[in-house]
Amino acid sequence: MFTHPTNRRTRNPVLSLLLAAVTAAALSAPAAASTHDDAVARGRYLVGISGCNDCHTPGYAEQAGAVPESDRLTGSSVGFQGPWGTSYPTNLRLSTAASTPDAWLQHARSPMRPPMPWFALRDMSDDDLLAIYAYIRSLGTQGAPAPAAAAPGQAVTTPYIEFMPKNLPQKQAMATH
Ligand code: HEC
Repeated sequence: MFTHPTNRRTRNPVLSLLLAAVTAAALSAPAAASTHDDAVARGRYLVGISGCNDCHTPGYAEQAGAVPESDRLTGSSVGFQGPWGTSYPTNLRLSTAASTPDAWLQHARSPMRPPMPWFALRDMSDDDLLAIYAYIRSLGTQGAPAPAAAAPGQAVTTPYIEFMPKNLPQKQAMATH
């Protein structure tokens, strides 16, 4: 008995494997590129609608968002002062550039000082967080690091916004401290 001539797979297994590998490589190259572009586009959308620029982009709220994309997310040296001390919106262009995807996922879900809504990041899917990561990195590095956070009661020389609840009923006032 001989192998049926039309059965190419059994006739030349090495050639078949080679063809399969070449086809897989040809198919996966453009797919990978568009997946990255899709992630960047989704990240741009998520960052735009979830308010990250309000704090992390200087002048964004004051100019109703009319800040060129190339200048966004570079952090702010105007602090937020409250019972947690003084915190500064960080330069996300620098921090994402220095992070791996895995480290970013873990870091983005860790507790941070107010008024950073870190729980919003915690509740995002991995895909959404990685899309934000891809988008911020696509902007490239720019600017200087924001000042380091100051401990409660520690004096700062930068401008800052005081986040102190006023006129709260006693019980509520205690809950916010
Ligand atoms: C209300 C102001 C505010 C908003 C809105 C905000 N942040 Fe922040 N963010 C901060 C502050 C302040 C810090 C510093 C927190 C600290 O010192 O612990 C911070 C820290 C971070 C950090 C950790 C430090 C770093 O650079 O890696 C990440 C990541 C981050 N923000 C991402 C985001 C993203 C993404 C959004 C939008 C979904 C966002 N933030 C929205 C104020 C804000």
